[in-house]
Amino acid sequence: MKQNDVLIRGEHLTKVFGYGKQKTTAVEDVSFAFHEGEIISIVGESGSGKTTLAKMIMGLLKESSGSIEYMGKPRQLKRHGDRKRYWKNIQAIFQDPFSSFNLFYKVEKLLLDCIKLQGVNLTKEEQLRKMKEACSFVNLKFEELHNKYPFELSGGQMQRLMIARIFMLHPKLLIADEPTSMVDACSRSTILDMLLKLRDENNMTIIFITHDVGLAYYVSDTLYIMEQGKVVERGPAEEVILNPQHPYTQQLISDVPKIHSEWDLA
Ligand SMILES: Nc1ncnc2c1ncn2[C@@H]1O[C@H](COP(=O)(O)OP(=O)(O)O)[C@@H](O)[C@H]1O
Ligand SMILES: [Mg+2]
Repeated sequence: MKQNDVLIRGEHLTKVFGYGKQKTTAVEDVSFAFHEGEIISIVGESGSGKTTLAKMIMGLLKESSGSIEYMGKPRQLKRHGDRKRYWKNIQAIFQDPFSSFNLFYKVEKLLLDCIKLQGVNLTKEEQLRKMKEACSFVNLKFEELHNKYPFELSGGQMQRLMIARIFMLHPKLLIADEPTSMVDACSRSTILDMLLKLRDENNMTIIFITHDVGLAYYVSDTLYIMEQGKVVERGPAEEVILNPQHPYTQQLISDVPKIHSEWDLA
């Protein structure tokens, strides 16, 4: 991977929930530098702090201590305008694709809203072309889906629709929190391949969160391994997988005995 500019940098981020006996340190002293056009996987077991870290990066949770720098400047979220500007270039995909959509809207409206969000004036034909292009990017047929409601689609189709929206919005930063854990194997590999394509064609920075080190290896340039709120190991995916240094990483990898032959991602 060529070494691009740093898009977002975290310094000593910590998040503590609750007080006294109820206190949980969900994220502890995590620092990172994520570059433009880089796919970073954050890997760890359930409860290791991945989602909490993602929410701090998204600006949905305030850090207890530490700071974030975005495009070379301290990130400001105090004013409404600051948040609007920050969120304009950040999109997220979550585990449950149905949670991100208005379930009373048909597919066509969900996609149209996404075009309107960008504030460009397009003719009906141009809108249609854009929606078709976005659907075919994720191997969906607009003609078959446009008149359907979300509940008429599978989880995998919904998640791919989510990626079609990302394709249209082309944010600088995409945070995908366990996006493949609720979908079928076929959609899973499509989704992972689409992440690679978004990186390559749009120079997108993608944070891919997973408990599955095999998926992380398939899709990422860089791995961050989290255990109990801390990053215990990080580095180029190849290096970390082929020569893990930390016992926790070694254990994660030994749990996937056939990591080199699992390319079918079934
Ligand atoms: N809003 C919250 N209030 C209290 N504790 C929380 C909250 N969110 C997460 N936690 C705790 O923080 C830890 C990390 O959770 P999370 O970031 O969701 O982990 P992961 O995404 O890796 O499964 C867990 O112990 C969880 O119970
Ligand atoms: Mg989580």
